Amino acid sequence: MIGLFDSGSGGLTIFRACAARLPEQPFLYLGDHGRAPYGHRDNREILAFTTEMVETLFGQGCRLVVLACNTAAAVALRTIQQDWLPERYPDHRVLGVLVPTVEALSGVPWHQTEPDGRDDEPHRTIALFATTKTVEARSYVEEVAKRAPRTRIVQQACPGLVAAIEDGASPATLSQAVARHVDALYEQAAPEEIDGVVLGCTHFPLVEAAFRASLPDGVPIVSQPAIVADSLARYLARHPRFAETGASEARLLTTGDRRAADTVGGRLAGLAHRFEALPATGGARQAAG
Ligand code: DGL
Repeated sequence: MIGLFDSGSGGLTIFRACAARLPEQPFLYLGDHGRAPYGHRDNREILAFTTEMVETLFGQGCRLVVLACNTAAAVALRTIQQDWLPERYPDHRVLGVLVPTVEALSGVPWHQTEPDGRDDEPHRTIALFATTKTVEARSYVEEVAKRAPRTRIVQQACPGLVAAIEDGASPATLSQAVARHVDALYEQAAPEEIDGVVLGCTHFPLVEAAFRASLPDGVPIVSQPAIVADSLARYLARHPRFAETGASEARLLTTGDRRAADTVGGRLAGLAHRFEALPATGGARQAAG
């Protein structure tokens, strides 16, 4: 089983793309709806929660977990991969959404931390909408700058948008919130300067139509779910021991209110799946209170 983790419902956009791209793979989704959003929390808390949720997915039988959350990936992935996994779970792997997105934006593989040396690269401005924490982490700005110095990332934090999505705000409220964040972006970059947009929070593709309606006509929105799904497919081809064959299944677990999670998953992600409560033996969460 491949585990997918998000603070709440946002990772469903990644789940949807991965399940479509890899229909033979069983996925187990875990949303920490009980403690969402993460985007304004301090780094130690995000690292502790994310590690705990990854361990919960390991406890459910996943040996490969994807952090389907930009905030968790920006803040916690490096520590989990470099310190925690080798010591505690050397045979398990944790991937994130940041790496494949940076590769797609820069056109340069992650392990290569310098530009390709091509002098025909155009100058581009990419707008990144994300949580406050992802913006503060500056991972996208710095990682893209190393590999593609002519690509400028203009970051726009969208405080409150994740909470509004999780709270089931009306389409009109969500559209107004998105329009305010797009207007705030224009204070940093004029509409005609923007060559592309990344919704760098996995919740935001759930309201992609609202972004599209507020952004200039024709500006491409990079699809992080498709990028992550393609990257996962390539990873499984290179590491077949994490792949499974046979009947696929998908289960969705939540630490929060199942019905609220179902409502967001059904209304915004268009999924018919139903969330289950996280089983009591699932991991360290109960001990942590
Ligand atoms: N889906 C998460 C992300 O991609 C949202 C984080 C939050 O809970 O604020 O950043």
